[in-house]
Amino acid sequence: MFNNIKKALEDLGKFFAKKWYLFVSQILVIFFIKYSRAFFNVERTIIEYSILVVLVYITCELNVSKVRFFKLHKNYYFTFYSILTVGMVLNSLSYSYFGYPGISVFLPVSLITVLMGTTAGIASVYYFAFSSAMMLNYSLKYSLFFLFSGILTVFLTRRINKRIDIARAALMVSLLQTFLFFINEIFFIPVSNYRNILEGFFNPVISSIIAIGILPYIEYASRIYSSIGILELGNLSHPLLKLLSMKAPGTYYHSVVLANLAEAAAERIEVNPILARVGAYFHDIGKAKKPEFFIENQQLENPHSFLHPGLSHIVLNFHVKAGCELARKYRLPLLIEDIIKQHHGTRVQKFFYHKARETNPEVKEEDFKYPGPKPQFKEAGIIMLADSIEAAVRSIKDPTPSKIEEMVTEVVNDIYNERELDESGLTLKDIELIIEEFVKVLVSTYHQRIEYPQDSPKNVLLQIKGGEDSESEHNK
Ligand SMILES: [Fe+2]
Ligand SMILES: [Fe+2]
Repeated sequence: MFNNIKKALEDLGKFFAKKWYLFVSQILVIFFIKYSRAFFNVERTIIEYSILVVLVYITCELNVSKVRFFKLHKNYYFTFYSILTVGMVLNSLSYSYFGYPGISVFLPVSLITVLMGTTAGIASVYYFAFSSAMMLNYSLKYSLFFLFSGILTVFLTRRINKRIDIARAALMVSLLQTFLFFINEIFFIPVSNYRNILEGFFNPVISSIIAIGILPYIEYASRIYSSIGILELGNLSHPLLKLLSMKAPGTYYHSVVLANLAEAAAERIEVNPILARVGAYFHDIGKAKKPEFFIENQQLENPHSFLHPGLSHIVLNFHVKAGCELARKYRLPLLIEDIIKQHHGTRVQKFFYHKARETNPEVKEEDFKYPGPKPQFKEAGIIMLADSIEAAVRSIKDPTPSKIEEMVTEVVNDIYNERELDESGLTLKDIELIIEEFVKVLVSTYHQRIEYPQDSPKNVLLQIKGGEDSESEHNK
């Protein structure tokens, strides 16, 4: 726990060092409005609201529009602004009845951060801090207070995998708020009663209870899932995964191996490993509908031998389409539906293309492509790579580390040269790290088969030890 807090505070420090100007500009805007109002002697005017709109545009719109997921799904905008608006309405109501904004920044900011990531979280802090300060007559003290506790909330909730982590983050924000109120009492303007201190402490804690309770409803309604929600879906007793394990055991096994590869690679390039793991579980879910058409589930004969290559192409495309339909039916996250849609990108089904060319040399590559689109985010790119690599490495007869490395590099190069990764956001550096990680995981998976010949008793003992090692590697 302390390591997480330490990491959050380090990242927070880096953020302030890089984006201090956003912080200062917001304070300056609040300063400007407050004193220009006194100077012109006007009440809340249209100018103030216009400044609020411009500020929302600069802090929210410009920031979130850079986030990949906002570009992919309008639902992200809708959910983002809905959470902000509901937070603001509740705050205004509490201000009119109790004279104090009742909802601490914790509720909307933590919800937005766990669902949509750090950038969206920061954007919501600026908006929420400004509008709350506006309610409190542009008090500079409160603006700073909201900004500090909001940004701390973002950094404490940005990588949350368990519900209890939200409660822990709330407790930290509570302590910070109480500390800030104490400082105010001692060094600045003392408040005659200690109501503010109590509010500062209890507000984030109560907000965290609401946040934890409301999260599953937002996830179900918007299909935007936090890592907590995605982890719950990744439970292997999910009805869709059970269906896959019964109807297409080969595909199920392939998906589980793929999940290990994808998770390790995602961790290495610091994207969401939970999305990568659970996305891998579901990526071929459409194969549950016609499992016998896929090689990993074939026991007797291959039905494609009796089919025209054009029909085989339709059957292969069908697993993507059927997967998306199942994802919608079971309300899987939008991003997992994207992974299903994008895991083959617009790649050519080479085997059937060449088979078709044998009878008709005029046939075009375009007629044997998956419908796409190409992967649109890093986790989807990783799954595309891992998918091809898992199948290719399984076909190596006597795997050695060098053979595995050669195969991984070849498959990645092919996909890269086909320009399938162009829209995924993966950089060359990312791809290098992904190759390294894939090789590491695959070598440790095939460790037993690679390292030890089966003859001497000493080696048999070592083999058992090697088996335990690779098993524990899986369990990590
Ligand atoms: Fe597939
Ligand atoms: Fe696959």
